[in-house]
Order: sequence, then C-alpha cells, then structure tokens
Amino acid sequence: MAVMDFLAAYDAIAEDDVPQRVALLREAMATGRADLFAELRAHRPVFGTPVGVFVTRHPDVLEVLSAPGTFTVGVFGPVLEDVLGAPFILARDGAGVHWRERGYGQLMLAAEDAPRVRELTARIADAVLDEVTAGGADTFDLVQDYARVAAARVAAAYLGFAGIDEETLHSCTRRMQWAFAVNPGRDPEVHAAGVAAGRELHDHVAELIARRRTEDPVDSPDDVLGRMLRTRLPDEYGFDDERVNANLVGYLAGYQQNATQCTATALKELTVRPDVLADAERAAGAGDPARFDAYVWEALRFHPFVPVTPRLCVRDHVLAAGTPRQTVIPAKSVVLACFASAMFDEEVVDAPAEFRPGRPPAHNLVLGYGAHDCVGRYAARVIVPELVRRVLLRPGVRPPPGGERALDYAGTPFPQHYRVRSGRTAVPTT
Ligand code: HEM
Repeated sequence: MAVMDFLAAYDAIAEDDVPQRVALLREAMATGRADLFAELRAHRPVFGTPVGVFVTRHPDVLEVLSAPGTFTVGVFGPVLEDVLGAPFILARDGAGVHWRERGYGQLMLAAEDAPRVRELTARIADAVLDEVTAGGADTFDLVQDYARVAAARVAAAYLGFAGIDEETLHSCTRRMQWAFAVNPGRDPEVHAAGVAAGRELHDHVAELIARRRTEDPVDSPDDVLGRMLRTRLPDEYGFDDERVNANLVGYLAGYQQNATQCTATALKELTVRPDVLADAERAAGAGDPARFDAYVWEALRFHPFVPVTPRLCVRDHVLAAGTPRQTVIPAKSVVLACFASAMFDEEVVDAPAEFRPGRPPAHNLVLGYGAHDCVGRYAARVIVPELVRRVLLRPGVRPPPGGERALDYAGTPFPQHYRVRSGRTAVPTT
C-alpha cells in the first residue's frame, strides 16, 4: 500500500463497519507497517481506532511510557500473570511488586556481568556454528539451528537453567510470549498453551531450585540463579523460592525469543545493505565491540522485536499538550505506543531512513523506554551483538544472493526460519 493510501481507504469505510476497518488496519500493519507509520506521523499522529489509539510520534511515545500511573501494563499484565502463574514486574505498575522487584532485577542482572557474558556468548556461538557447519550441508537454518540453540545455551549458562534442555527453554518461552504479547483476540487455545508452557517451566525450575538448595555453594555455578539463591531479603517482603522461580522464568520469557529473533532480523537488515554489511564485517573483525555493536542496534531500529507496546489508559489524559496534535485520551482506552514509528520520527531523528550506526541512544527504543524498559539490558546489549558478530566473522555464512529478506514466519508471529549458506572457514579472531 503506497504512502497516503491508507487513511483515504480507512476513511472510506463506514465508521460502524468495525470489522472492515480492523481488517484494513491489520493488513497495513502486516504488509506495509513503515509506510503506514509514516502516513500516520504526517497526518494523524494520534490515531484512534477500534483496536486502540496509535501513538506514532517520538515525544508522544516517550510521554506514554513515562507515565505508568496513567498508562499501565493492564492490557497484557493479567495474561502474563496467568502464564507465569505469579506476579511479575512486567505485569504490574507502581508501588509493590514493580518498584521492589525491578530493583531486585537490577541487582541480579548486574551490569558488571557484561564482559563475561560477552565472552560466554562468543564461545557458545562459535561452538554452535562449528556444530552446524560441520555437518556438510550447504545451508542451514540460522534461526532454528543457530540462534535458538545459542541463545538457550547462553540462558542455561548465564541465567542458570543448566540441566533443562534447549528445546524446552525455547518452545516454552515461544508459547508464553505468543500468549501474553501477541494474542490480542485472546484466542483460548493460544492462551491455554501459554499457561501450560509457563507451568512446565515453573516445574522444571522448582526442581532446579530444590537441587541447588542442597548443593554446597562452593560447588554451585556462578550464575544469576546462584546469585538469587544467595540473596536474602527481609522476611516482610515474603520473597521465597516461588518468587525466585517467577522472576527467573520471567527473565527467560523476556530474553529467549527476543535474542533469537534479533539475531536473524539484524543479520537481514545488514545483508540487504551490501555497503553497510562490508563496514560491519570490518568492524566485527577489528576487535572493538563497541564500534561493531552500533551496527546491530541500528539494524534493529529497522526491525525491532517489539515494534509496538500496548498500555491501558486508566484516567483521562491530554497527550502532547500544547502542540498541534494535542489529543484527549479517554480513560479505558488501549494505547499503542509505536516504538517502530518513533524511531523513524523525522522531526526528532536525523535522516531516519539512512543506516547510521552510533545515533544518539535516545533515538533507539529497541530495548523499550521508561518504567518498564528492559531490565536485562546489560546482558542484552552484549548477547545480541555477539551472536551476530560470530556469524559475520564467517564470511561464508550469509543468506544466498536474493535470499537476504527471506525470513519465514511459518504462520507464527515470529520469524522461524532464515536459510543461510554454511561456508566453512572461521576467521581467526578474538
Ligand atoms: C535479547 C534482546 C532483548 C530485547 C530486544 C528486549 C526488549 C525488551 C523491551 C522492548 C522491553 C519493554 C517492554 C514494554 O515496555 O512493554 C523489555 C522489558 C523487559 N525485559 Fe527485555 N529484551 C531483551 C533481553 C532481555 C534479557 C536478557 C532479559 C533478562 C535476562 C530481559 C528481561 C526483561 C524484563 C524482565 C522486562 C520487563 C521490565 C519491567 O517491566 O520493568 N530482556 N525488554
């Protein structure tokens, strides 16, 4: 759908023909999201629809996500708690669970871990790439054979899921994420599958915790779970092993699918731009991760894992007050904060269509923003770039010419397959 087509087509549908308006909207989101957002930013930056109010300009997205007392996670929070079977920070706002356990999460997912998590990721990624390329096949599936496995092994080693197999970690989080993040119609089967997956992971982790409690701490692996088990909070917080369980499973739910998909979509965004790819390959080999990482985060600006996050407006709010787009958002509205649009807001981001590594951090919302921004960001910031870098260090491992965009969603909300050549030689590097 070309720019300027959408609103004319939408307005031509009778206002009470909600199914048709929603169908058009869904089609535009699925097939021409960037064009849709460009048109909305220019002509209807705060766009009320039957599925929610699209907020598309950068300052307005920030305004929504900075006011958790007004714009709550109530749209998906209850579903996430069904799936986890327990309260969790991403399901709550304000005092209590969110305030307290957000602080706890920052301690457990310590920023200081980043250098060793990068090394761990590099080692695991290389081992998985060696395994998949040793088989002799000309191509492999970057999502299923590499990113999924490497991400799960990093989770096992860093977060502490050792002993739970990779397939369980991946498939459970996939069903959980599908149920709480991308099931707006509350399809009961999707919901039930997410709840069952959450229960399955909970039970595995309960066994794991019971086992770890009996181990001598000296023999215990130095991972996030170990840190959680060594941490004693005041009794009045009621933070028992069930809370440890819910937080650890919640961290995995926030990480596993994201890391897997980001690896594939970042590689896609780099390989569709041959000049950028060549620069990124040079940066990958230069041994300066900070320079390289900027390519990956810029790539993800073009294809973020979370393009839109919903919030529930719980009291009337004047959005963008004092600007020409000032709009009253009535209480009980679902508000869709469109990260993918905000990162292309031409009034804030210089030449947004250009690929420019090293843009100001505030222009990159890939890890969220505000009260619920990614509490795993220090780990995410090294894991995702390193998973991509290990691929770029193998010049033969690339999508075949013409296949750079060929992400296959296999009927799911997330890319499931991405075929790449298996070129054999690794470039010796650090
Ligand atoms: C791998 C790439 C990752 C991406 C792209 C990513 C992205 C995001 C985004 C966009 C949000 C905000 C959601 C919202 O506002 O609705 C978020 C929140 C969160 N992320 Fe991540 N994340 C990643 C890795 C991780 C990791 C490694 C962990 C933990 C180990 C984690 C745990 C969380 C948690 C618990 C929240 C909720 C924070 C809160 O509610 O206060 N994420 N993440």
